[in-house]
Parts: sequence; C-alpha cells; structure tokens
Amino acid sequence: MSEPVVLVETVGRVRVLRLNRPKALNALNREVAAAMVAAAQAADADPAIGCIVVAGSEKAFAAGADIAEMKDQTAGTMAAADWFGEWEAFAAVRKPVIAAVSGYALGGGCELAMMCDIILAADTAKFGQPEIKLGVMPGMGGSQRLARAIGQTKAMEMCLSGRMMDAAEAERSGLVARVVPATELHGAAMELATTIASMSLPAVLSIKESIRRASEVALTEGVRFERRVFHALFAGRDQTEGMTAFLEKRTPQFTHE
Ligand code: HXC
Repeated sequence: MSEPVVLVETVGRVRVLRLNRPKALNALNREVAAAMVAAAQAADADPAIGCIVVAGSEKAFAAGADIAEMKDQTAGTMAAADWFGEWEAFAAVRKPVIAAVSGYALGGGCELAMMCDIILAADTAKFGQPEIKLGVMPGMGGSQRLARAIGQTKAMEMCLSGRMMDAAEAERSGLVARVVPATELHGAAMELATTIASMSLPAVLSIKESIRRASEVALTEGVRFERRVFHALFAGRDQTEGMTAFLEKRTPQFTHE
C-alpha cells in the first residue's frame, strides 16, 4: 500500500497535518488537496481539537502545485474542474491553523502557508511565487494574500520576478510571525498550538473570525462586528470562569463552551 500523502497526528488538543510527498518536495497535486482539505475539516469538526498545525519536511514545506499534473491541462479542463477551488474549504476552517515552514514554500506552497493564520518559519525557509517563470501566475490566492501580507510593491516584485525571500526578509516583511532555528521549528509550533488550544474555544474562534474580517470589510463595520462578537462571548461559561479565575488568582479551567 502506498504511503498517505498527508500524515495525521493528534497531540493533546493539537492536530498535526504533515505533507508527505518527499520525492516531489511535497508538490500539491489533487490527491494532496483532497486529503489536506478532508483532514483540516475533520479537525475543525472534532470538539477535542483546539488548534491545527500544517507542516512539511525539513527540505520543503511544499514546492508548489504539481507542475507535472498541470502541464497538459487546458483552460477548459481547469475551469470545468475549478482547479484549486477545493482550497477555499481549507481557508474556511474556523479553528486556528499554524503553518510550520521549513525549506521551500513556493507557489502553491507559499499560498498554502498564507491560507493559514500564523506562519512560523525555520531559518532555512524560502518563500516565493515563481509561477511567472512557468509562464503563468499564482492561482491559489497568492496575488491577493501576498499583497495583503507584505504590501503591493513587494508582492509585485516577488510575483513578477519570481524571486525567493529568505526567512529573515519574510519576518521583516510581516509574512511570518517568527523565525526559529530549523531544529526548534516543530517544538515552537507545538508549543504555540498547545497554548492556543488551551484557551476558550469560543473566544479563539471569535478572534480568528474577527481578524480575518479585517482584510475583508471597512474599518467601521469590522469594529462593530468585533464588538458584537465580544458581547456574545458573555453568553458562554468560559467568560465567567476566565474572569473569576483571574480574581481568585488561579488558572482558569475552560470547558470551551
Ligand atoms: C512537481 C516538483 C515540483 C513541483 C519539485 N518537484 N517541485 N514536481 N511540481 N512544483 C520535483 C522535481 O521535478 C524533482 O523530481 C523533485 O521534486 C526534486 O526537485 P529538484 O528540482 O530536483 O530539487 P532541487 O534541485 O533541490 O530544487 C528545489 C526547487 C525546484 C528549487 C524547489 O524543485 C523548483 O524550482 N521547483 C518548482 C518550484 C515552482 O515553480 N513552484 C511553483 C509551481 S506552480 P524528479 O522526479 O526529477 O526527482 C504553483 C502555482 C500554480 O504552485 C498556480 C498556477 C497555475
């Protein structure tokens, strides 16, 4: 039997999804897309999970969409299949998703990392949108999310030249939250994910939804949305527990409701 293209592991309240096509540097073919979306949705639906980590190998988070699989497609076959459309379901996951990026995150690999909520990078990480060198362009949200993450001029430079960015530049540009030595990447991602997963799930979901909205709507509407969601959290038990625990100088016991 062939190896699964996405390895799934649960550690406490954290679900780890690891891309597993080492011979193709984790190139994202349709099998990987289906497996990743299904695994992310399963984690999202599982009440025992509070945070998701997406990882690749030491050499490559993912070197892009699978070029061999795309080469002979036509505009018609791509449109009929809505090629890459399945990734919208991944981006729509409600629980926080951390991308732990080591090595190459190129093309669809960079786009997958940007669909996640937090990118942690190893000092070996390299980000880029090299599609221009193949005679095409980003197709999994890269032109939109990279421009929002690092600004128009830098996104233009990267997408039009295909230049790669190293981890330090990615951190300076605001693409990644933090850079750590490669050997510490997994531990750092698990520590962050475990911290997030220990928090009240309704508060976590509300924060993700609210911050995501910041890049979608006007400021006044976003601030009003945030206030309404904030008010709604006072209907949950975790708000009472969190505030009572603070005043009693003890650690809160969240029940995620
Ligand atoms: C399919 C890929 C691949 C990819 C690497 N491989 N990237 N296969 N799709 N995106 C395969 C290689 O063909 C090779 O297979 C094996 O992985 C190892 O790759 P090498 O090139 O031999 O490794 P190395 O010399 O270390 O170079 C690493 C690399 C290079 C710099 C990352 O592989 C590279 O440039 N890859 C392509 C990156 C890219 O253009 N990504 C964007 C794709 S388009 P064999 O069988 O020879 O060992 C995209 C967006 C799609 O993502 C949207 C537009 C339609």
